[in-house]
Amino acid sequence: MNMRSHISFLRRGKIVDLVPTSTTQTVLDYLRLDEKSKGTKEGCNEGDCGACTVAIGRVKDGKLVYEPANACILLVGQLHGCELVPVDDLSQDGVLHPV
Ligand code: FES
Repeated sequence: MNMRSHISFLRRGKIVDLVPTSTTQTVLDYLRLDEKSKGTKEGCNEGDCGACTVAIGRVKDGKLVYEPANACILLVGQLHGCELVPVDDLSQDGVLHPV
């Protein structure tokens, strides 16, 4: 069994290395509870309403492709090797993110 204790992903142009607090920790809980990024909202908490939508960037066919994901049902471990772009990160220093 492949037990990954550390994961790495990109956020705000920097690599984030962390150990998820549990195997079932969601990206929504990570953002709101650990990072205090409150822009991503909790609505239904079961993947239906979209209040928690984040963009996930992945390399596909040599290109970086962003896709929406529901942070309430996305596990932190699934971020490994991806870029995480929550609503809080869409503008930095007055410059909009390409998403
Ligand atoms: Fe409704 Fe995530 S909180 S889809």
